Amino acid sequence: MSTVLASKAVRFYDSTIGKKAVMAVTGLILFGFLIAHMLGNLQIFIGAEQMDHYSATLHAIPELLWAVRILLLISVLAHIWSWLALSANNKAARPVGYQKPATIQASVGSRTMSLTGPIIAAFVIIHLLHLTTGTIHPGPFVELHAFENVVHGFTPPFALFYIIVMLMIGTHLSHGIWSMFQSVGFNHPKYTPMIKKFSAVFSWILVGGFIAVPLSVLLGLVK
Ligand code: HEM
Repeated sequence: MSTVLASKAVRFYDSTIGKKAVMAVTGLILFGFLIAHMLGNLQIFIGAEQMDHYSATLHAIPELLWAVRILLLISVLAHIWSWLALSANNKAARPVGYQKPATIQASVGSRTMSLTGPIIAAFVIIHLLHLTTGTIHPGPFVELHAFENVVHGFTPPFALFYIIVMLMIGTHLSHGIWSMFQSVGFNHPKYTPMIKKFSAVFSWILVGGFIAVPLSVLLGLVK
């Protein structure tokens, strides 16, 4: 019974629609994490105590923290894996490119997905070394003292680097969210433009929330 289910799951993943579904579901999990993370970060504006309390709460139940970390890691890997598999399929289906560029209608987001994706993945590694382990933090870094770690961590080069990457996340998400709807088969002449707009507006609100933190430290509004 379980081998039948496993082989069905493998066959589903092997199909293009299966890979797109994996990409959409993992994208949705990562997007959910980003909303929660951005809202958590905004607590810095309430004050040091609240921000450190937030960090302590995150670490309070190690089993839960590790379960979430493992879910995120699996989602990131599956997201990248499906992208690689879909790009390989597309290349195999059209070994010689279009004679004319087929991107006249395509948005900046859709054309730059394969550039912004790897940059975001590299950013996550740098970010963990910066604010979770403190390995590349300019210092002083004190575990669980999220407020001070953020304020001291956003020296101008780090703050600018974060702001630039957040803008890339905005373009990645505005196309990604819209693409997620398409992958589950949602395409309607009346609602499609609305969904495109919703994806863009929602992505840029999220990015605005993220950017507010390094920008406020850079401008000396949070210290
Ligand atoms: C300006 C934007 C951001 C700020 C200020 C920020 C801040 C932080 C801080 C302070 C922590 C450490 C929390 C703690 O351990 O107490 C953290 C952890 C983390 N952040 Fe961010 N973050 C930002 C953007 C992002 C983005 C865009 C992503 C993903 C693409 C991300 C992914 C993570 C992950 C995976 C962790 C580790 C959570 C864990 O402990 O497992 N962050 N962030």
